[in-house]
Amino acid sequence: MSTGNGHAPRVLITGGAGFLGSHLADRLLNAGYQVRLLDNLDPQVHPQMDATFQDRRPPAYLSPESELRVGSVLDERAVAQALEGVTVVVHFAAVVGVGQSHYQIARYSQVNLQGTAVLLEGLLQRQRQPGSGLSRLLVAGSMSVYGEGRYWCPGCGVSRTSAGRSLAQLRRKQWEVLCGACGAELEPQPTDESKPPQLGSMYALTKHAQEQMCLLFGRTYGVPTVALRFFNAYGPRQALTNPYTGVAAVFAGELLAGRRPQVFEDGRQRRDLVSVHDVTTACQAAIERAGIEGETFNIASGETLTVAELAEELARALDVPLQPFITRHFRQGDARHCIADISAARARLGFAPRVRLADGMRELATWLSQQSPRLPDPARRPPAASGAQARAIQELRGFGLTG
Ligand SMILES: NC(=O)c1ccc[n+]([C@@H]2O[C@H](COP(=O)([O-])OP(=O)(O)OC[C@H]3O[C@@H](n4cnc5c(N)ncnc54)[C@H](O)[C@@H]3O)[C@@H](O)[C@H]2O)c1
Repeated sequence: MSTGNGHAPRVLITGGAGFLGSHLADRLLNAGYQVRLLDNLDPQVHPQMDATFQDRRPPAYLSPESELRVGSVLDERAVAQALEGVTVVVHFAAVVGVGQSHYQIARYSQVNLQGTAVLLEGLLQRQRQPGSGLSRLLVAGSMSVYGEGRYWCPGCGVSRTSAGRSLAQLRRKQWEVLCGACGAELEPQPTDESKPPQLGSMYALTKHAQEQMCLLFGRTYGVPTVALRFFNAYGPRQALTNPYTGVAAVFAGELLAGRRPQVFEDGRQRRDLVSVHDVTTACQAAIERAGIEGETFNIASGETLTVAELAEELARALDVPLQPFITRHFRQGDARHCIADISAARARLGFAPRVRLADGMRELATWLSQQSPRLPDPARRPPAASGAQARAIQELRGFGLTG
């Protein structure tokens, strides 16, 4: 990989010390890019950090070939310096907990919205200097913007979108989405990018805004911009101690600590989990493909499974004989089903997911078993009710967000 002048192009990945960013950094380094990361090493994601932010030790998995700048996307100077000499920007920096975003509204708005605004103003300053235009701005969108995915009504024989389930319905523990016309239980259908957003959390709202801010900036200033809406990504380096993050990591953390993962509702919510390796393949294509400027793509595996099946699959892969605990509680804002239609990414990005779920889970399990010494000693394990997941659920309960 080289620019016309023989130099390898330099990429900036904001949030590049995190799960997806660090894997993308490795892929781009292998492909011959120079990679710079701007990351404030948020202690919620990087527990090796001192909570006072004094001891900013980078995660051990980061490649020494990538250039880490410890700093926040909220810091104009840090952003301007990080943008020097880069031709591609990947914007991954975000706080990422759906449930937590319901009550840490200022923090989610600040990092996800204001952080994006500061980055775009930094880019604008650069755009005004001759010869320093970007070849690509890539922004991480999220499946969360869809809320409920697309549905099929077997009663009416037509596709339906749904405004979701009322609080009263959830309190009756009637989990499936119902057809507004005939009352039948709707069946999930693959959701494509044209489905209108249905924002069920502050996180989803900020992710939608991040994506739209970047696309609008791209149109306004002629910066070739692409948004990728990731479905649930899984793989090595997920933040295990962060109970507000991806479902696979939360369940794995519980299983390794000897606790049954707590599954909301009846566990039959359907999702699409995608390996981090397929995510980074899609990112590289989105950086390099011509003719996709201004477009948005779902990135997922196209394989679906229920949340309870995921917990069972992980327990099998980890060889931990613990069944999920089906709580029959709900969390406000959770979609019942959301599964992906990836035909646009296949056609326009040449994206073809390669990692089968069983193989990806085995890889995750191997990595997890190497991490277990960092998890609590079995003799000193807290009782089940005080695990990280339970604490996160307790917080939601405190705000009346679960029932
Ligand atoms: N992992 C998924 O399943 C998934 C799904 C959909 C969308 N996404 C999006 O992909 C992106 C990456 O997610 P991830 O799973 O790698 O999350 P992550 O939490 O592992 O990584 C996010 C990184 O951003 C950093 N960060 C937080 N605040 C920052 C700030 N103010 N300045 C600079 N850096 C900051 C964190 O320290 C962390 O390293 C996010 O934008 C997320 O919304 C992820």
